[in-house]
Amino acid sequence: MTDPNKSSEKPWGGRFSEPTDAFVEKFTASVGFDQRLYHHDIRGSIAHATMLAEVGVLTADEKQQIIEGLEAVRAEIERGEFPWSVSLEDVHMNIEARLTDRIGITGKKLHTGRSRNDQVATDIRLYLRDEIDAIAEELGRLRAGLLDLAEREADTIMPGFTHLQTAQPVTFGHHLLAWAEMLERDTERLQDCRKRVNVMPLGAAALAGTTYPIDRALTAQLLGFDRPTENSLDSVSDRDFAIEFCSFAALLMTHLSRFSEELVLWTSAQFDFIDLPDRFCTGSSIMPQKKNPDVPELVRGKTGRVNGHLVSLLTLMKSQPLAYNKDNQEDKEPLFDTVDTVKGSLRAYADMVPAITSKADNMREAARRGFSTATDLADYLVKKGVAFRDAHEIVGKAVALGVAEKKDLSEMTLEELQQFSDTIGEDVFDVLTLEGSVQARDHLGGTAPAQVRAAVARARKRLA
Ligand code: ARG
Repeated sequence: MTDPNKSSEKPWGGRFSEPTDAFVEKFTASVGFDQRLYHHDIRGSIAHATMLAEVGVLTADEKQQIIEGLEAVRAEIERGEFPWSVSLEDVHMNIEARLTDRIGITGKKLHTGRSRNDQVATDIRLYLRDEIDAIAEELGRLRAGLLDLAEREADTIMPGFTHLQTAQPVTFGHHLLAWAEMLERDTERLQDCRKRVNVMPLGAAALAGTTYPIDRALTAQLLGFDRPTENSLDSVSDRDFAIEFCSFAALLMTHLSRFSEELVLWTSAQFDFIDLPDRFCTGSSIMPQKKNPDVPELVRGKTGRVNGHLVSLLTLMKSQPLAYNKDNQEDKEPLFDTVDTVKGSLRAYADMVPAITSKADNMREAARRGFSTATDLADYLVKKGVAFRDAHEIVGKAVALGVAEKKDLSEMTLEELQQFSDTIGEDVFDVLTLEGSVQARDHLGGTAPAQVRAAVARARKRLA
């Protein structure tokens, strides 16, 4: 990046009598990070120039020169040859100045009827809309992979947990579908946020609108926005759409962090429920036996920065008086990092999830060991006329015997079980098996394999 310190050449330099302090110039510049908006800035400028020509503010020839000049600037940026300058502050003034270098005085007409305030608000919305679409795609890929895995694991039995203590048997497919549900709600939130992102602030100019006969509906249409915004002051000042996106992102990452936590637990020797392929793990430089679940750990860790960015933006916006304030230049780095982090995390997960393999024997053994069918025994007694509280007590005693003798309920003899209640008959063994337990929860939202398959089919339809 060049730093020619040509303060007298600043587009706003007219009323100033001394150059900007060298440190202040760097301190206030955003070009180091907002260059990322170049593509959307140029797209917005082309639409603006097209509209200005349509309403007679520019001639057709001026419009043509501007568009060709902007395309040439875009190509220069993409070749890595653009001379970014800190003294030109931001991406907007860098591009405009370069345009004028190339096409002369006509370049200076591009900014007619707009301000950097509505320009930057438009650029961020165009940028975010594209990123939302890219993120929606990765989310869809992850959800599809999760549904396939859930279908493959519809019959696999594992312990379900509450308080991280074995609770009742569930199917692994059912457990995976819990993640799919969360990600589906995240997708809905993202799509809902997109509606409010896709509104065009351009035309608000600095804050009050402009005296030129602009056609905002035309510019909005050229840029693929649903409509222009309604109020010029609000248009240039609020970043609620970015906050909303970061709030979607914080929830998504929070969900992925929970998913990650379980993958980390399940790959440990203590659980040993699943295997992650080597290509998603790393080793230790000192302990030769180690295979660490880095991807889930990192995603769990990255949740912190995304949640932090949400708080940054909320705090940035808090108490800002109308209309635009320079504070808002600080919206970009948290937003950009949120986008990058979410895209990276989703990409890694979408690649990794289909490659998860279950260790069904270990899962089953863990479910068997934990008295996970105790509730089924209580329900059995209730169905035979015992009050639920009494049934709870009876089963509690049977479990105590099992703990003492290291036996699961299904491994006790009928006589052993009958010590606790003579209501218990031979048919009790049907409910004490893990398969019987999961099959019995055969209703919408339940863990039975048939319900898992039906839920996968419904979720696939919603995904399509
Ligand atoms: N770089 C600025 C930002 O990101 C652009 C708008 C500046 N407007 C102004 N009046 N200084 O917010």
